[in-house]
Order: sequence, then C-alpha cells, then structure tokens
Amino acid sequence: MSPPAVLFEGVSKIYPRPDAEPLRALRDVSLRVPQGRSVAITGRSGSGKSTLLHLAAGIDEPSEGRVEILGADLGRLNDAERTLRRRDQIGLIFQFFHLLPHLSVGDNVALPAMIAGERDYGGRVLELLERVGLADRARERVDRLSGGEMQRVAICRALLRGPELLLADEPTGNLDDRNGQRVMELLLELAAEGQRTLIFVTHSEEMAAMADTRLAIHSGVLEPS
Ligand SMILES: Nc1ncnc2c1ncn2[C@@H]1O[C@H](COP(=O)(O)OP(=O)(O)O)[C@@H](O)[C@H]1O
Ligand SMILES: [Mg+2]
Repeated sequence: MSPPAVLFEGVSKIYPRPDAEPLRALRDVSLRVPQGRSVAITGRSGSGKSTLLHLAAGIDEPSEGRVEILGADLGRLNDAERTLRRRDQIGLIFQFFHLLPHLSVGDNVALPAMIAGERDYGGRVLELLERVGLADRARERVDRLSGGEMQRVAICRALLRGPELLLADEPTGNLDDRNGQRVMELLLELAAEGQRTLIFVTHSEEMAAMADTRLAIHSGVLEPS
C-alpha cells in the first residue's frame, strides 16, 4: 500500500503576534490526499490556504498535530534530509511565477537540476518545454514572455525532477481567463500523465470544479466544499 501523498492529523498553525492574541491560521485540520489525486482548495484571502500549502511542502512546520508527506514525517527528519526530499519529491508553482527574469527560458527550467548538481538535463528541459508548447523559446530571456507563458515555464521547472507531489498556490491568479484555463488544463494533464498528486489553491469556481476533490477553508477550518 502506498502512503498518502499528504496526511494532516489535527494540524494547527499558530502565529505569535507581538501586540495581539496569537493568530490561528489553521485549526485542527485533518486531511488525507491519496497519491495521484487532484485537489482544489478555495477560500477567502487570509483563510489559511497558503499556510496549508507551506505545511504540505515542508517549508513550514505545524504548531500542533502531524504532517506526513509521502509517508515521511518531515518534522522528524534533519534539515539536510528534509531539503533533499523537498527538492526531489515536491514541485512548487506560485501565483507570481518566481522565475529569474534575466535567465533564459531553458535555464529557468534547468535550475533545479543545476542546483542538484545534475549534468544531463538538457534533453529533459527541451522535452518539457515541447510539451507546453515553448520549445522554440528556450533561448529567449524569460522576462520577454507573457504571463501565461511564464507560468508554463514555471510548471516545467516544477516538473523537471519528476516530483510525486505538485503544489500550486493560485497558479492562475495572475492570468486572464483564457490563459488561466489553458494553464490549469495543462497542469491537470501533466499531473495525470505522471500519476502525480496535485493540490492547488484557486479563487475560481470553474478551476476548482476541474479537480477530483474540492475543499474549502474558512478561517483556518477545512471543509468539503
Ligand atoms: N508568517 C506569518 N506570520 C504571521 N501571520 C501570518 C504569517 N503567514 C500568514 N499569516 C496570517 O495567517 C493567516 C492566513 O494566511 P494565509 O495562509 O497566507 O492565507 P491565504 O493564503 O488564504 O490568503 C492570515 O491572517 C495571515 O495574515
Ligand atoms: Mg495565499
């Protein structure tokens, strides 16, 4: 039996505040996402969506409860192991792409492989760019591209090292409807092709309806939607 991609058990995240009561960004969240599933999370601004994704990515730790990613409790790993697992198992996609503007499209995609000290990644970079329709742009500076194109580059970068888990925080939040739709379809297709798990945050009902499972978060409380 393969472990769930993401498991939360009674997870709370509490941020201390200097001049106010501590802020409970997540309240007793339990969640089990089987591998290969797509999950949409909706909720108002400030409801805890990004906090939840950061915990699922192992970027942040719960104040209470347990988080397991692909069967491992990241809280029990040392920093080096945690970093390795994040790098190899998780692909992150952000609303504002987080690309390096002065680098080429190809180098932006290749970055995770360069950082990991890999040598033979050129073929994989081109294959991915081909898959998202940007192979002929590989040598161009990434900041010449449109928003939709930039997000397709960021998706390639997230996929480069073959992660089992893709986490996307409002991946279409900075795109117009048409480009947003195209990016969302691509993301779901690419996740399904690789039997990857995809958890994404969105404000769009239409996008959320494309996922296998929909969840909503209200003031830190997670509910089926
Ligand atoms: N590092 C932090 N320190 C203090 N408060 C934070 C921090 N990150 C987020 N918050 C607060 O936690 C709540 C949830 O934030 P967030 O998860 O970013 O919400 P969302 O992504 O749904 O807009 C908000 O009230 C936010 O201000
Ligand atoms: Mg957010």
